[in-house]
Amino acid sequence: MIDPRKLPEHVAIIMDGNGRWAKRRGMDRVRGHRVGAESVREVVRACREVGISWLTLYAFSEENWKRSKYEIRALMKLLRQFLMTELDEMLENGIRLQAIGRIRKLDAKTRETLVDVMEQTAENREMVLTLALSYGGRQELLDAFRSLALQIQQGAISPEQITEETISHSLYTPSMPDPDLLIRTSGEYRISNFLLWQIAYTEIYVTPTLWPDFRKEEFLRAIEDYGKRERRFGATSEQIEHKT
Ligand code: IPE
Ligand code: IPE
Ligand code: MG
Repeated sequence: MIDPRKLPEHVAIIMDGNGRWAKRRGMDRVRGHRVGAESVREVVRACREVGISWLTLYAFSEENWKRSKYEIRALMKLLRQFLMTELDEMLENGIRLQAIGRIRKLDAKTRETLVDVMEQTAENREMVLTLALSYGGRQELLDAFRSLALQIQQGAISPEQITEETISHSLYTPSMPDPDLLIRTSGEYRISNFLLWQIAYTEIYVTPTLWPDFRKEEFLRAIEDYGKRERRFGATSEQIEHKT
């Protein structure tokens, strides 16, 4: 049972294992991505149903540009298809779409579709779906540090005025709360350059399930598991109990 008082406000997911899912079936990797897109639909829906306000999905990393042209093209096409088919549901359900990453590196057609859906859903207030595209945590920090350095050089701020808050606010999405829960599928125990600054105190859930098999039921299990965690943020258990 999910305790509504213990719902994460922000869930981030490293959607991994599409290639292995396909390989095990003797299929092309792209088939794995296609079935994985179904998992995305289910998880977005489940989030909206249980009342999670922020969902961030790692869809394409800055490092994923190393993949074959064929695979990248297929991934971009699937992204466009996802955006076009889901737009109505996003509008009906009050879901705002936003993106983090070096979006300018995407091909024009994909970028235009993305911008169009972001604009059309900009006023939605029920839930924010953030897609990490051409995203890298180090690149995000690098961009933030450059922008802060520029502000110092221009005399707009002094070095002492740089705080954790100003760094957070210089990231790609200044208003996004840090993730409470990070899920990684396919059993890999690594972060792969995802949200490095933001996950300082995020709870982590790793499952061996490959992304195309990760559906509503297991997503809800992860949320339930999160509800049982004690988040201490460096304090002791006794101190936490005292506060509640
Ligand atoms: C995740 O699945 C999707 C992307 C990285 C775009 P993978 O394609 O990484 O699948 P595996 O890890 O090779 O199984
Ligand atoms: C992480 O998966 C990126 C996405 C899920 C988009 P990868 O498959 O690229 O990660 P590594 O290379 O195994 O660390
Ligand atoms: Mg992978």
